[in-house]
Amino acid sequence: MFDSLRSVVQLKPFERDRATRRLSSAANVDDYRALAKRRLPAGVFDYIDGAAEDESAMARNASRFSDRTLTPRVLRDVSEVDASTSILGTPAPMPLIVAPTGFPRIAHPEGELATARSAARHEIPFSLSTMGTRSIEEVAEVCAGRKWFQVYVWRDRELTKDMLARCKDNGFEALYITVDTAVLGRRERDVRRGMSLPPKLGLDTFIEGALRPGWTLNFLRNDPIVFSNVAVSTARLGDGTEDGSSAVSLADYINSQFDPQLSWDDVAWIRSQWDGPVILKGIQSVADAKIAASEGIDAVALSNHGGRQLDSAPAIIDLVAPVADAVGGQIEIYCDGGVRRGSDVVKAVALGADACMIGRPHLYALAAGGEAGVDHMLDFFQAGVEQTMALCGINNIAAITSDLIAET
Ligand code: FNR
Ligand code: LAC
Repeated sequence: MFDSLRSVVQLKPFERDRATRRLSSAANVDDYRALAKRRLPAGVFDYIDGAAEDESAMARNASRFSDRTLTPRVLRDVSEVDASTSILGTPAPMPLIVAPTGFPRIAHPEGELATARSAARHEIPFSLSTMGTRSIEEVAEVCAGRKWFQVYVWRDRELTKDMLARCKDNGFEALYITVDTAVLGRRERDVRRGMSLPPKLGLDTFIEGALRPGWTLNFLRNDPIVFSNVAVSTARLGDGTEDGSSAVSLADYINSQFDPQLSWDDVAWIRSQWDGPVILKGIQSVADAKIAASEGIDAVALSNHGGRQLDSAPAIIDLVAPVADAVGGQIEIYCDGGVRRGSDVVKAVALGADACMIGRPHLYALAAGGEAGVDHMLDFFQAGVEQTMALCGINNIAAITSDLIAET
């Protein structure tokens, strides 16, 4: 009897690698999030997971994806489904981009190195933030794939100029200018916790640390977490800009260093300093998308920063069709905020986006399983896009059109 039972009940062999073991039970982004929550100190998790004020923009980003349905066509040969596309003129196996995020090393000691390697393996662009915790040079050393850099414009223009020169020397392909952060949004979870970056190990974090010993040991054993890109440029320029080696409140830091006077003239200045493609990230209206197109910008990234800036901002998926009607075909259109599955990517493409970007999903996956976690997550998206296409009766990206999508 046991023999016949054994033939139908397949026991999984014991997996020795702990990250792989953890990831084997993860079926979607919510599961990476749950794993990240178990592994990270609460203040660190809340900085990543949280958003501005009542977090309503973040909730809307997600719910407006769910409000849309796809209308499947049947009896079409979908034995071969091809999700490949072109992003800024270069082929990619799916319309997805890893969005820039600050401080990935608080999620995992490898930080950006792990994510950049994984993105390169998946042949999709990896984006490094000005507020990154691995430098332009460190990322270039491990990643021969597509690398994009996101600039925040500093009051000190020499710092921005130096970062652009370093990007050029290190094979970065494209530049984002993030335009939704004139001042930092009010992240109330961080206010309550007095969150500083890099995290301080004070009494409360010590108690937290005891509850999260894996994270705490990594934090203590590895190089200190600093704003690596700022640190390299300030050392090159010999100026005294704070590089994040002492703990600061993010709001104080950003509000003192970023230039709130940023205007379209500065965009033109950056354009004059950079030969490659420029993307404006944080566009949230048709009017601004039109100005971007008329200013010769290469792409707009429709984004409300994952709901972390203006809490009353529109849901991103609601902007895609109007912006595509106004500037589609002239410039590329990307969007982020609440993209959690392959079907979300298909919905955005149906409304006129050229690609989607993902922020929190890659940080959750990094915290859940390091580089293997990011691989697992990108495989999940690739499979999800292809499966959704097959279920819709579509076998190539060009066939994903607006008649596929409806609103409930
Ligand atoms: C961000 N985002 C961001 N954007 C940017 O241009 N520069 C940055 O340094 C950061 N930093 C950052 C940190 C963290 C922890 C998060 C979660 C997000 C915004 C990011 O690029 C992207 O727009 C959003 O994360 C997209 O929303 P989802 O995918 O997180 O819902
Ligand atoms: C954030 C900044 C770093 O969203 O962009 O936290």
